[in-house]
Amino acid sequence: AEKKPLPVVVWIHGHECTGCDEAFIRSGSPLASDLVLSQIALEYDHLLSAASGEPFEAHLEETINKYKGQYILCVEGAVCTKDSGVYCMSGGKPFIETLQHAAHNAAAVIAYGTCAVSGGIQAAKPNPTGSAGIAHFAGKTPVINVPGCPPIPEVMTGVVMHVALFGTVPPLDNEGRPKQFYGNRIHDTCYRRPFFDAGMFAEHFDDEGAKAGWCLYKLGCRGPETYNSCGNLRWFQGMSYPIQSGAPCIGCSNAHFWDEDPMTTRM
Ligand code: SF4
Ligand code: SF4
Ligand code: F3S
Repeated sequence: AEKKPLPVVVWIHGHECTGCDEAFIRSGSPLASDLVLSQIALEYDHLLSAASGEPFEAHLEETINKYKGQYILCVEGAVCTKDSGVYCMSGGKPFIETLQHAAHNAAAVIAYGTCAVSGGIQAAKPNPTGSAGIAHFAGKTPVINVPGCPPIPEVMTGVVMHVALFGTVPPLDNEGRPKQFYGNRIHDTCYRRPFFDAGMFAEHFDDEGAKAGWCLYKLGCRGPETYNSCGNLRWFQGMSYPIQSGAPCIGCSNAHFWDEDPMTTRM
């Protein structure tokens, strides 16, 4: 029997730090290498492709034309909107143009990371480049929001696998996030929750409560208002996550978390 062609994926990068792609390649289940080498055809990615330069940019254009309406577009990074987008150039063009062109012709768009979902650090006040999330630039193409700075590796591979295997967008919540991964607050799955419920809080990073593993709420933990899978999946194949290493959750999957200081907004 003829082998079914692999779903084509194009991955473009705007205003960002590449941390999301770095997270993606650390997925253990599925292994990112298995995914990229045998489950999808990753035709274009600034970080993972070996090619570069003009032939590479021509290949992007060829891929968009050849697989119009069929490919999955992954976007990492914010889109810079000020002054016609000149503060984020890629392949000689403002990224905003590449994004619109690639997104309008895609079957679905996956916005990877808080930068792509809501602007991220580039959009922090005073946002000199007019950076924003990418959803408004995708035209009629459905957008799946996968926030986190970066998102958990297995969440990243899980979402693209779903779209590639089933050819559908997974069930989303009212912020466009896959319910499977963003249905719980960090606070709902936190192993320190019994201390919260008992009113036992660390007050300083080096006090007895911190050493005993008490709740980090009074040190600014944003777990009560943050939706993500860190408490269930943890990072690096279940090894740890911020709260487990003694750091409060900073709400990295929330829009505008860079601008919000929980110690001043909460007290
Ligand atoms: Fe980097 Fe965070 Fe933006 Fe991902 S969301 S590109 S990790 S700054
Ligand atoms: Fe909630 Fe944070 Fe305390 Fe865990 S450490 S129980 S997430 S406030
Ligand atoms: Fe981010 Fe909080 Fe998880 S800071 S990595 S959402 S525990």
